[in-house]
Amino acid sequence: MAKILYIAANPKDEENSISLKVARKFIEKYKKINPDDIIDEINVYNDEFPIVDKDTVNGWEKLWTAQPFESLSDVEKQKTQAIDEFAEEFSLYDKYIIANPMWNFNIPPKLKAFIDSVVIVDKTFKFIENGAIGLLENKKLFHVQSSGGIYKGSPHEISDSYLRTIFGFMGVTDVRSVFVEGVYMFPEKAAEIMKQAIKKAQSLALDF
Ligand SMILES: Cc1cc2nc3c(=O)[nH]c(=O)nc-3n(C[C@H](O)[C@H](O)[C@H](O)COP(=O)(O)O)c2cc1C
Repeated sequence: MAKILYIAANPKDEENSISLKVARKFIEKYKKINPDDIIDEINVYNDEFPIVDKDTVNGWEKLWTAQPFESLSDVEKQKTQAIDEFAEEFSLYDKYIIANPMWNFNIPPKLKAFIDSVVIVDKTFKFIENGAIGLLENKKLFHVQSSGGIYKGSPHEISDSYLRTIFGFMGVTDVRSVFVEGVYMFPEKAAEIMKQAIKKAQSLALDF
């Protein structure tokens, strides 16, 4: 039985969101094939999670400069521990699903904040003699991204590439993506774009 975390990164309601709708179709298909798997969901716009702030960074900098944990202020202790626990919980999932719209060529900022809270040393990666290695081995990511324009394969596509890079850094190299592009730009093709995206998402769910 696998545990999956679905990270929805969109303040819009699912019924109004292209990316969330396609992700839901993926999840429904996946659930049919893997009824015993557990899928937890977080929407980074609706759900609270610990974020990196001044106290967190101040606490980390003390620890990075070999100062003892006891030297941190109470709030620094509490916030660095909360992020450690959050990253630990994240690391226990077997598979990840992310759905987001492209915003100004990038992922929405709260998804970046989420990533900053899970890319944590000794939880999802660790330093070795000449670099770092990811600790999330044999895990998978499914990513669905919706955008107004069409960017797949172009140098302007940096958001799916970023997720591949940062998940790769954490050790997740099996990444499958669906781009839902141009729905609003080409309204006459909207139904067909959605149909093809859902078809691709459902086919990727078969062996996810
Ligand atoms: C703040 C903001 C920034 C956006 N930036 C881009 C962009 O850089 N490129 C683009 O093609 N579309 C951009 N869009 C449009 C959305 O990516 C597009 O409408 C997408 O299909 C929305 O997906 P959703 O329905 O899942 O939210 C932007 C939309 C918003 C609200």
